[in-house]
Amino acid sequence: MAVFIPLEAMAPVRPARATVERGPLPERLVDGFGRVHNNLRISITDRCNFRCIYCMPEEMEFFPREFILTYEEIVRLTRIAARLGVDKVRLTGGEPLVRRDLPILVRSLGDLGVLRDLSLTTNGVRLPEMAQELWDAGLRRLNVSLDTLDPQKFAELTRRNLFHRVIAGLEAAARVGFHPIKINVVAIRGYAEDELLDFARLAREQAYQVRFIEFMPLDGDGMWDHARVLTAREILETIGAVYPLERAHPGPTPEPATLYRFRDGRGEIGLIPTVTEPFCTRCNRIRITADGKLRYCLFAIEETDLKTPLRAGASDEEIAWLIVDTVRGKWAGHAINQAGFIKPQRNMSQIGG
Ligand code: GTP
Ligand code: 5AD
Ligand code: SF4
Repeated sequence: MAVFIPLEAMAPVRPARATVERGPLPERLVDGFGRVHNNLRISITDRCNFRCIYCMPEEMEFFPREFILTYEEIVRLTRIAARLGVDKVRLTGGEPLVRRDLPILVRSLGDLGVLRDLSLTTNGVRLPEMAQELWDAGLRRLNVSLDTLDPQKFAELTRRNLFHRVIAGLEAAARVGFHPIKINVVAIRGYAEDELLDFARLAREQAYQVRFIEFMPLDGDGMWDHARVLTAREILETIGAVYPLERAHPGPTPEPATLYRFRDGRGEIGLIPTVTEPFCTRCNRIRITADGKLRYCLFAIEETDLKTPLRAGASDEEIAWLIVDTVRGKWAGHAINQAGFIKPQRNMSQIGG
């Protein structure tokens, strides 16, 4: 069944606050819980050449072109965010590689000279032809989504029969020099259990960091259910029983992945327990959607419209205050595990992975 999400009315939009006489802008984005936000994830398109069942419905209505931020607008927002302490940017989608002239954006963001880290999350299918161009534009870090090593299951999960192109894409990226290459595996019960050891072997035998992500309620078809979450603990136990593992770093980090290395020194895996052990208390992330809305959380049910003021001639300062105020109003964290949980109106491809 086709699912159409009304586009402009997807979430309550916060009103812009008057920005006159507000004193100097802060140098860091700190919320009411003391969390500092230096990590910005920018979705550059809601379109995708896959239809992963955990992310999108088969039929989607995409944003019309004029809804989507231009590269100039993205670069300007990044420059403004950098003034507020953002130094890490990830480009996401939908599938970012379907947007035309992506290397131009990558180069422009690098040329700003303000980012410590620029990376990209992709489904990998266009990497065979684009890995070199992206490298030449200055990109050095890639995360690739790959949830199965079985071509048939791949076709079922992504609704596209393109497994071998993704493998070719991973190989192309490695050949060009990308490092690290992280492989994101969304672990859905009923799909992932019988492949955990195959993925462990991949992490041991090749230079990929394999990360298992707990399935979150951001799919487009309503298939998510607690019972479908293959937990990080189960994954760790299954792999550790065959290939003994140890924590790769001692304490908590601001990153969502907890890393484990194989005791025999051959490679490592990551676990992202978004559902069973949320990392919200350490969250340092904000997001801008392809249609120019700022979100303080993947699961936020309100968002701040940056595109309208941007196009209405707002100054950098005014836009910066909108970002500051949004972060100040950030909630403690998502409530997936609580009775009152409200699923965001956007699915993952409309937010940005
Ligand atoms: P790097 O460590 O810089 O490579 O980034 P990352 O670990 O954030 O990488 P990536 O974008 O691949 O994120 C991995 C997965 O973690 C995403 O696909 C999401 O499923 C999940 N994730 C990322 N950000 C958030 C977040 O803010 N909240 C929650 N709950 N999950 C997130
Ligand atoms: N739960 C967890 N991760 C998801 N992703 C997409 N949808 C979900 C979901 N429902 C991840 C993909 C990819 C990134 C774009 O987001 O694996 O790495
Ligand atoms: Fe596309 Fe990524 Fe969503 Fe899959 S997870 S449908 S590849 S945006």
